[in-house]
Amino acid sequence: MTQQVSWAAARAAFFPPESYIPTGEYALATGTAAIRLLEISHRIYAPAGERILTRAGLQPGMHVADFGCGTGAATRMLARMVGPSGSVTAIDASRPQLDQAAQICAGFRNVTFHQADACATRLPRASFDLVYCRFLLLHLPDPAACLREMYDVLKPGGILVVEDGDLTSAGSVPPTALNSFADLFSRLGPIRGLNYSVASNLYPLVRAAGFSDPKIELHQPAMTRGDAGLLLSLSVEEAGPAFVSAGLITTDELDRTVANMEIARENPDVLVTATAHVASVGAQTLERQPSPQLQPASRSCARERRGPAEIAAVQIGVERIEVRVIDQVQRFEPELEVHRLPHFELF
Ligand SMILES: C[S@@+](CC[C@H](N)C(=O)[O-])C[C@H]1O[C@@H](n2cnc3c(N)ncnc32)[C@H](O)[C@@H]1O
Repeated sequence: MTQQVSWAAARAAFFPPESYIPTGEYALATGTAAIRLLEISHRIYAPAGERILTRAGLQPGMHVADFGCGTGAATRMLARMVGPSGSVTAIDASRPQLDQAAQICAGFRNVTFHQADACATRLPRASFDLVYCRFLLLHLPDPAACLREMYDVLKPGGILVVEDGDLTSAGSVPPTALNSFADLFSRLGPIRGLNYSVASNLYPLVRAAGFSDPKIELHQPAMTRGDAGLLLSLSVEEAGPAFVSAGLITTDELDRTVANMEIARENPDVLVTATAHVASVGAQTLERQPSPQLQPASRSCARERRGPAEIAAVQIGVERIEVRVIDQVQRFEPELEVHRLPHFELF
């Protein structure tokens, strides 16, 4: 009997849900404590975001997924843009974030909430017209896995809009205590297994997830005595416990740093440059047709032990991939999409 491998089954074998650390690594506040910072961030970035979404093709009546919705600032904007004939599914790993988002979006009947890991949402495949995320990928240990999940829940031809930021780009002119933001986050990232500069790599990441010809836009808000300084000082304050527990700063130093950031952001001679904002728009153009190479007879799978790791080598036609076995390879079952296979490579 011939067997094929479904993308979802193969993903489940190689990236079991327990291999993600959805909220444990998130350094910022959640719930009511998160609202202030995320609303400030929305004020700074929403004008560009709304323009990008409109240009990407967001229209009334569309069904949209908002990955990593946080306290719902962007969800609310999306709900307004798609109108009552459309819908927004807001996804976050954190229940306290979703509770706040539900309150903020209470006036919209077209929004539903879904608690899930953004890399494995369990949402129906091929069901959304547009998938969106803002400032999510930089908080994920495996942003590529999230982009693949976004691809999978999009209808063929659906639209992807990603907005993310490179935290190391923020600071002030002249340099002040506000530069601690970039310094602390850039040192925390490797300790937590996160890349807070992932936005700089958005173009290849989006392409690797199967989106052809993504359009990239980059801009960096800069202002004196405005929200940008508040964004930096509040972020350092919120992530303070993470910096302290990582041994990057003592509690006393943190207090002094935040106080000095506050002074700097009030100084009219200091220009604050907020996090550089990278937006990517990618239309999903690949058809979900099984590759002609995918003849069951041409497929083989072998396992071997290399040092402490167990390796599965899968040969399909001329394609060969090797993956580290995390779970049972016999979960390989129906329908394989060959053109997605390179994404399994863990080496
Ligand atoms: C910086 S907030 C951005 C929120 C919102 N997109 C916005 O721009 O206002 C990032 C959000 O991602 C969520 N998050 C972090 N890791 C996640 C994961 N693995 N799956 C789903 N959500 C996650 C956090 O709980 C948080 O609400």
